[in-house]
This record gives sequence, structure tokens and C-alpha cells, in this order.
Amino acid sequence: MTWAIVPAAGRGARFGGERPKQYLEVAGKTVLAHTLGVLLRHPEVSGVVVVLAAGDQDWTDTALSILNDAAGKSIIACTGGSERADSVLAGLRELPGSVADDEYVLVHDAARPNLHPFDLDVLLKRGRADPVGAILAAPVRDTLKRADSAGRIDTTTPRESLWRAMTPQYFPRGTLTRALESARAAGVSVTDEAMALERLGLHPLLVEGREDNLKITTPADLGYFEWLQTQRQLAAG
Ligand code: CTP
Ligand code: MG
Repeated sequence: MTWAIVPAAGRGARFGGERPKQYLEVAGKTVLAHTLGVLLRHPEVSGVVVVLAAGDQDWTDTALSILNDAAGKSIIACTGGSERADSVLAGLRELPGSVADDEYVLVHDAARPNLHPFDLDVLLKRGRADPVGAILAAPVRDTLKRADSAGRIDTTTPRESLWRAMTPQYFPRGTLTRALESARAAGVSVTDEAMALERLGLHPLLVEGREDNLKITTPADLGYFEWLQTQRQLAAG
């Protein structure tokens, strides 16, 4: 069994608007409720720590809306910090003491509501079999250009061997805690968990996931997620 930490303490500055993007509604549920639902419905997930912004007014409604998906599994809420990595560390500290240091835990962004259960399954199996741990990622498909200071193309960066990092990321509790604490102590801002482990010389496994495990960053991403939900409902009849 596995615990999941869901950082949901961001303000959604790039998205804009009054309400943080994780609390916008799509197909009758908040983005965060979609995200938590995928995790809680997986038979191997035993509980979730949701990391919220201080003064969060919206969590209670979302918590009530996922009770069916939770089906008696534990949901713990706690308060995050100013950077994503601070929020993940806060979540790690709230895990029950029964989660041993060598037990693998998932970290999955609240802003990725379209995780496919099959991808979660593959990540759990392959991640657990790896001594370091693993992340979901997708190969880069576009041609990449490095810009000069005038906004013109300097060079083309070969895309072979380049991947886009996604979540969930799946690492042993102890290693992940040490890696994030070490980055914080060094004043290094890490944008995902893998980057913190890389600083310690570790090389997490890349597990290829679906392209549509999108992160909602701008309103266009929300529109895409809405469209995917409509397609899914049509397919389900
Ligand atoms: N997050 C968090 N604590 C922070 C910052 C981000 O828990 N201090 C969470 C967000 O809620 C989100 C995930 O980390 O689920 C990924 O971050 P991102 O997509 O960057 O969301 P925001 O930080 O909210 O958006 P922005 O960067 O545009 O402000
Ligand atoms: Mg952010």
C-alpha cells in the first residue's frame, strides 16, 4: 500500500482569477476533486495528504465531494509553504509514523487532474522495483530552440533524450525527505522531487506516461481538460 502527497497550496498566478485553479469546477467537480479521485480509487493507495494554502476557504466542499471515492481511506489536510518544495516537505512531515523511511510515497500535483489509472499503475509497479524510484514523463516532440537575448534563434537543441517531467513522482519517504531538506538548506529551488534527488547524485527512472496527463497552468489547459471530460462522458454513454 502507498500514501500520496498532493501539493495544492499554490496561488495559480499564471492562471489568474480570484479562485485558485485547483478549485475551479469541471464536469461538476473541482480540479482537486478530480485529482484526488484518481488517486483514491486506486486499490494500492491507502491514504492521501493534501497540502493547502494558509487560509484556504474551499477545501471543505471538495473534501465532502470525494467521500465516495475515499471509501474509508485516510485523507489528511495540512498547510504548505511558499514554494512547491516547501509544501511537499510539509506533506511528508504529516505522513503517519507507520510509513517507514524505506516505503515509497507518491507526490502528485493538484493541478494534474487527468492522470490515467493505467499510468499510475505502471508507475507504482516500475517505481517500486527500482532502488532509486521513478517519475512519469513524456518524450519531447517539438523541435527545441535556444533563444539569444534579442529573441532570435541561437541554436537548435536536439530533442532526442529530452523528456518532460510530470507527476506522480514516486520515491522512498526517507530519501525524498533528505533530498528536499538538503536542497532547502543549500538555498536551491527545486521544481520537482526528482531534481532534489539528482542533486544527491541519484538517477530516477523515467516511466513514459500519456501526453494527456496535463498540468493546468493557463485557462487554455482548463479548456482542454473540460473537452477531455466531455469526450469521456460521451464515450461512457
Ligand atoms: N503548489 C504548492 N505550494 C506552493 C506552490 C505550488 O502546493 N507554494 C502546488 C500547486 O497547488 C500545484 C502544484 O504545486 O498543484 C504545481 O504548481 P503550479 O502548477 O506551478 O501551480 P501554482 O504555483 O499554483 O501556479 P503558478 O506557478 O502559476 O502560481
Ligand atoms: Mg507555481
